[in-house]
Amino acid sequence: LILILGALLAAYLLGSIPTALWVGRRFYGLDVREHGSGNAGATNTFRVLGKKPGSFVLVVDALKGFVAAYVLPAWLVSQGAIAPEHEVYYRLACGVLAVVGHIYPVFAQFRGGKGVATILGMMLGVAPATVGVCLLIFLAVLLTSRYVSLSSMTAGVSFALLQLLPQFRPPQPFLIGVGFVLAALLVYTHRANIGRLRTGTESRVPMPWDKK
Ligand code: G3P
Repeated sequence: LILILGALLAAYLLGSIPTALWVGRRFYGLDVREHGSGNAGATNTFRVLGKKPGSFVLVVDALKGFVAAYVLPAWLVSQGAIAPEHEVYYRLACGVLAVVGHIYPVFAQFRGGKGVATILGMMLGVAPATVGVCLLIFLAVLLTSRYVSLSSMTAGVSFALLQLLPQFRPPQPFLIGVGFVLAALLVYTHRANIGRLRTGTESRVPMPWDKK
């Protein structure tokens, strides 16, 4: 039981690593939460600091979800703390806790990101085909609308809906429920973006081929 609780706590703490905040403070001397959209996530790091730090934050934030959802439960199995057939439940529990840590980080006054990259990382191994289709949907919405927030929400909701189709139906039916919970969480964390989308004040991503 101690090992299980330790793994769950580790998942939350891992998710809590405020990558965007630390990169901004350490290398640029600023708090990304005071600039751009005010979000401590990859998108706002791209917006405020540029491509390199933005990509770094995206990769690290996705890795947090991936490590929490795959490495920690595998370690629990290797220690004999959980049965292999229960590993999938711990993948989801650890993944969700990492996402919660990312959104409400104990290392950053509980003001973190919106969960997109970390959810991507946690779902990559559970449902790679569904994630692949959602990435295409994300890109299609981004290229047509230029809104990252709208693309993220559409991809998250599509993930939940796609799992209802026979082709994408997960082996464990409860994964469908988790998909809907995460989609609802994404809409919730994007509530300020929704407000800006409605008033037409949400920032758009400039594309390289845009006319100056
Ligand atoms: O990464 C989260 C994204 O969907 C929105 O970020 O900074 O535009 O609020 P942002």
